[in-house]
Amino acid sequence: MFRRPRRNRKSKAVRALVQEHRVQVENLIMPLFLMEDPSKEEIIPSLPMAKRQGIDKILSEIETCTALGIHSYMMFPKIAESKKDKTGSYSLAQENYYLQAAEKIKKHFPEINLISDVALDPYSSDGHDGVVENGKILNDVTVEILAEMSVAQAQAGFDMIGPSDMMDGRVGFIREALDENGFTDTAIMSYTAKYASAFYGPFRDALDSAPVDDPNIPKDKYTYQMDPANKQEAMIEAELDYLEGADFLMVKPALHYLDIIHKLHEEFDIPIAAYHVSGECSMLYAACKNGWLDYKTAMPETLLSIKRAGATAIISYFAKDFAQMIKNK
Ligand code: PBG
Repeated sequence: MFRRPRRNRKSKAVRALVQEHRVQVENLIMPLFLMEDPSKEEIIPSLPMAKRQGIDKILSEIETCTALGIHSYMMFPKIAESKKDKTGSYSLAQENYYLQAAEKIKKHFPEINLISDVALDPYSSDGHDGVVENGKILNDVTVEILAEMSVAQAQAGFDMIGPSDMMDGRVGFIREALDENGFTDTAIMSYTAKYASAFYGPFRDALDSAPVDDPNIPKDKYTYQMDPANKQEAMIEAELDYLEGADFLMVKPALHYLDIIHKLHEEFDIPIAAYHVSGECSMLYAACKNGWLDYKTAMPETLLSIKRAGATAIISYFAKDFAQMIKNK
């Protein structure tokens, strides 16, 4: 035998020398769920690694996590039912507590990278990412609102805008609105290939944002989120977002769509982000809780697979645990 690949695996030193990919804490983005009561904290039964937290709790959470080396955060608001309406008008309201929270966070931690969520679903009484009329999700009306929402978020201090809605043309619209208002340095992390996935369930529990049960409202998001069967279509979305000025292209979910991450990474010269979504994290966590898998090895291997596929940044509910593990190593 001339070729013995095991020679390059024979010691820890050699294995470290030839290691091709590594997840660094700096690559991770930690999701945060904001709730209105500033001092409260709630558990999310279907997403036990995350919490719903008021701004006071979020500030101390960020303090802990920045000390662990996490510098990027993506925040989502839980909006009271009484503040929801068809056009998501609370998203633009002066007294919007999500925008106020962002301002506070950036005042306390100016050096972190704070990423927003742009979509109507947390604010929509219909539970959709856009305005619903006669059972249809309206694209162009929604895009106008999303652009306004983005400007309000940039004003509040968000460093990156994260459109998660999958309306056509929104990245270009948002870019133009940001630039017109002087926010040329505010970046766009676009949810580029966002699939109509079954793995968002725990997230919708966290925000109570699922489509409402009403015969006039579509129960699914199939007319805007992508068909899980499609790969080629991701290229169209990516090309458009690229041309419209996105700074990051995101694939979501991550684990079940590693082929899409790989493809976009090969074809585009801007960073790829992958959203390791709630259902993907919860199912691994549940198996570990049950003693069927070992958390300390299965969780990092999972993050590594996303990195190896070609993601530069990974949004994961395991960010904090991973950072803690690295620190204790
Ligand atoms: C909605 C949005 C969703 C997620 C992020 N933004 C859910 C959805 O499209 O219904 C899911 C994230 C997760 O599951 O962790 N704009």
